[in-house]
Amino acid sequence: MKIISIIGARPQFIKCAPVSTELRKNNCEILIHTGQHYDYEMSKLFFDQLEIPEPDYNLGIGSSSHSEQTGRMIIELEKIFLKEKPDVVIIYGDTNSTLAGALTSRKLKIPTGHIEAGLRSFDRTMPEEINRVITDHISNFLFSPTKTAVHNLKNEGISQRVFLVGDVMYDVLKQNMNIAKKSKILKNLDIRPKEYFLTTIHRPSNTDNIPNLSNILDVFSSTHEKIVFPMHPRTKKFINKHNLEKKIGENITIIKPVSYFDFIWLEKNAKKILTDSGGIQKEAYILKVPCITLRENTEWIETIKDGWNILVGAHKMKILDAMNNFKPSGKQRNHFGNGDASRKIVKILDEYGSRNFSNL
Ligand code: UD1
Ligand code: UDP
Repeated sequence: MKIISIIGARPQFIKCAPVSTELRKNNCEILIHTGQHYDYEMSKLFFDQLEIPEPDYNLGIGSSSHSEQTGRMIIELEKIFLKEKPDVVIIYGDTNSTLAGALTSRKLKIPTGHIEAGLRSFDRTMPEEINRVITDHISNFLFSPTKTAVHNLKNEGISQRVFLVGDVMYDVLKQNMNIAKKSKILKNLDIRPKEYFLTTIHRPSNTDNIPNLSNILDVFSSTHEKIVFPMHPRTKKFINKHNLEKKIGENITIIKPVSYFDFIWLEKNAKKILTDSGGIQKEAYILKVPCITLRENTEWIETIKDGWNILVGAHKMKILDAMNNFKPSGKQRNHFGNGDASRKIVKILDEYGSRNFSNL
């Protein structure tokens, strides 16, 4: 099979690493980087560390409005699809790169597989929710990470070629935790295990909103807790633009986004994690670290139900209370598969590919 995989943003580089390894055992993979993320720490660092093959194409689209970014991706992707004539296209997650890949591929009637299908926050003010819903409704193969995701698809009338395979992010985590143990990040930051909080913030609800970001920074700074904050470039730009630096207390250590190995080692050793990231909520659960989610909703509802994650939005009192008192006691369960999601996905694609994707 000739497979085109489309990636463009940090979590997609991480997700594609194990899938790409599996795919390339028996197939020809063409990797397209849309260029949605482009800073060294948001892109190249992951290719180097996770040994992801060099992209065959980098569209270099960069940052702009959602429509312009998605539209430009579609225009460029179509040219490549027409030239390369892939048997199948694979897309990951819920970014604008995902949506552009799905639309282009399906308009050309190319079989399309969505990895991380069926997740829902049920909040259509999130750009990701729009991307997920459209992508799921037009894809041919829906590779779902959790039972909840399969259930969500069923509720929307999607039940054909839905495969519960587990989560590819769990595959990556499992494959790399031993290597991450060698990270020197704690030493470099002069911090000790379980003596610091780890935070990341990048959602529009927190970064394009002065009151929300101010609340979060104010409450972080009001504590005497050590807080390590690898800052997404979006958040950095917003803080600079609105002169919010003065709200960052001395207890907060701002650093550039870090590598995957450094980040999962920071997660593993954190006292608690404060985040609005999707992937990080899940990693916190798997690593048994309490997660305080700076959002009103989540796609990873299992982590809430089991008591390891709590939704606090950008409410000062809720954040403070969770930082001081949130103590998970629930049992950990096996929601994210066995760490072999990538292998299962490729096996399914191989089976359909051997029949030339007939009857789709
Ligand atoms: C995107 C995804 C989001 C995902 C996140 C992972 C969409 C709609 N959003 O959000 O689902 O959770 O990636 O991190 O696709 N920027 C840089 N350098 C970079 C990348 C971004 O400076 O390398 C800045 C630019 O100012 C840009 C802003 O960050 O405008 C936002 O980037 P964008 O890719 O549009 O969205 P993210 O917030 O990164
Ligand atoms: N991550 C990383 N370095 C960082 C912050 C996050 O390697 O400085 C990893 C993290 O371990 C997780 C993924 O990036 O695997 C999450 O990506 P992000 O929060 O950007 O996106 P989301 O999951 O919210 O879409």
